[in-house]
Amino acid sequence: MPDFLLNPKLDRARAYGPELQAILSIARAKEARAHISGWAGYTPTPLHDLPALAAKTDVGQVLYKDEGRRFELKSFKALGGAYAVDRLVVKRGKEGLVVTCATDGNHGRAVAWGARRAGIRAVIYVHEGVSEGRAEAIRSFGAEVVREGHNYDDSVRASAEAAAKNGWQIVSDTSWPGYEDIPRDVMQGYAVLAMEAEEAGAKPTHIFVQGGVGGIAAAVLSYRWEKYGADRPKLIVVEPENAACLTESAAAGKVTTVTGDLETIIAGLACGEPSILAWKILEPGADAFMTVADAEAIAAMRELAALHVVGGESGVAGLAGFFKAAANPAMRAALGLDGSSRVLLYGTEGATDAAVYTELVGKTPEQVLIPEQVLSGKEGTP
Ligand SMILES: Cc1ncc(COP(=O)(O)O)c(C=O)c1O
Repeated sequence: MPDFLLNPKLDRARAYGPELQAILSIARAKEARAHISGWAGYTPTPLHDLPALAAKTDVGQVLYKDEGRRFELKSFKALGGAYAVDRLVVKRGKEGLVVTCATDGNHGRAVAWGARRAGIRAVIYVHEGVSEGRAEAIRSFGAEVVREGHNYDDSVRASAEAAAKNGWQIVSDTSWPGYEDIPRDVMQGYAVLAMEAEEAGAKPTHIFVQGGVGGIAAAVLSYRWEKYGADRPKLIVVEPENAACLTESAAAGKVTTVTGDLETIIAGLACGEPSILAWKILEPGADAFMTVADAEAIAAMRELAALHVVGGESGVAGLAGFFKAAANPAMRAALGLDGSSRVLLYGTEGATDAAVYTELVGKTPEQVLIPEQVLSGKEGTP
């Protein structure tokens, strides 16, 4: 499998027409924004300008949208799962409603959070690779956690079977034939991220965004595609090398499943099957697909930590992909990255598992957030 691929099916001239608008649209992103901004504690997450990284990579600007500050969940997933739960409650009513989903951690946390707010029961499926810290965080929102299966796709099937047996409602972040409405709501919630970035002044020429099943990548792409058409920024999807179902799909020219353990520390992106709805947007609209190794993600976490920004393993994958492309002359040329490029990164999670974060970075999230001089008591001294 290639570690970098310009999208062979890219159709930049294609307008963002009704077929795509039926999946995601700016009009519905505005509705999502109006709803979500009514939640207690809502505030747009910070957009960090990181000139040190721009200088290091020889581009004009690097912006990093810090979802580590998203509500109490520390990930953008709050915008999707909890929004879909709210929409479901409006449509179905609370009576007897039980929601379920599979998760690598963050989506389940969002669904559990949404269910607690709505006052309904949630049963969340995790596979054996999900850290106990992440399972515990889901329980802390009152949900039941069931551990089943070897990888994410196994736990998707397990939750679907349990839903069919018990009459529960699946609130999944991925879609499959015949199951599209709820994942569409999830993705529509994610589009709020793109709106916030734009309102904060981001005018990117390039967006590097991580891909699990493709939902967040499709959401941020759709927003700018519908708004700017062929003048939109280039969008590069970045995946872990051992779970690169979107890159594989682009290379194969059709939706392709990656099997096996999907072994990677980049836990939130360990997905083997693309979301079919997301793929309908990414296949004609993403500019390139690429992969990163675990070590590259860890290096990116440390680079950010040095700047007092906390990014989790999955949250920094786009940054890791950008570092890799910026340092490689062929990739730089293929993407048109140069000294005038303005790069936008969606830092989709903070330290969603503090123990894992500390092990990988060598400092706790709190130590990273606090400048060295405060830690050493030397603040204010020359
Ligand atoms: C932190 C983080 N970033 C990115 C993603 C990828 O999102 P998607 O599966 O919609 O591609 C996930 C998915 O769980 C995640 O947890």
